[in-house]
Amino acid sequence: MMRVMIQMNNYNIIEFDRLDSTNKYMKENLDRLSPFDIVRAVVQTSGYGRMQRSWYDNSDNLSFSMYLKTKKISRLGQLPQLAAVSVVSVLNEYGVEAKIKWPNDVLVDGKKICGILVETVLTKDTVSVILGIGLNVNNQYFTDDLKQKATSIYQQKGKLYDMRMLLNNLATKLTFFFNQFESGDATFMQVARDESFLIGKEVMLYEGDVVRVTNIDDTGRLVVIKNGKEQTYSGSEVSLQNIYNS
Ligand code: BTN
Repeated sequence: MMRVMIQMNNYNIIEFDRLDSTNKYMKENLDRLSPFDIVRAVVQTSGYGRMQRSWYDNSDNLSFSMYLKTKKISRLGQLPQLAAVSVVSVLNEYGVEAKIKWPNDVLVDGKKICGILVETVLTKDTVSVILGIGLNVNNQYFTDDLKQKATSIYQQKGKLYDMRMLLNNLATKLTFFFNQFESGDATFMQVARDESFLIGKEVMLYEGDVVRVTNIDDTGRLVVIKNGKEQTYSGSEVSLQNIYNS
């Protein structure tokens, strides 16, 4: 059931008590939404990430999707980095030092604080982008299986935070960096490199090869050295296993 519709200067926030997934809801209702609109669910019952992974969710996480429209099809790979840079800048403002684990996670002290899922729907020459963000905000504890892998702003700062204010701060950053993206300015990609958790590290690809990460290129692809040769991967082409040499 819809709880509240909040009209901000440039966008609306449509808030539900409960949804299966804000990304799924947005995909199914694109024709009723306008660019920059945000759909938030206080609780998601079937939030998901890349590769059909499920996203653990309760009312202590901030879960939302933002609707963006673009014709910059060749640069869509930048969007998860754009979202991650927005999250990292807001976390920095809250006094939390965070790093980006390409392609779509934000980590604090090596533990995940935020997951990002960018989905796209192509219509003629325009792409509808569903930019989903799940951020651990007021979680005091995690279940045993997540304890070692997850953290929250509460766990970092020892304080509870107002979700709507946090959402407004994130929406402002996302809008700012998206306008940069639209104008062809890739300054935020340099921030993504500066804040990268992976550059300089060895990682194991899903199929078992150990590679050294050297860069994230301007299209958002991961640049690695594999068997002495440079190779690039998009987020949908590769999945990472272990991270060595932290
Ligand atoms: C990941 O960890 O792989 C990404 C998780 C992304 C979760 C967010 S929560 C809001 C939006 N709705 C979803 O179903 N997924 C994203």
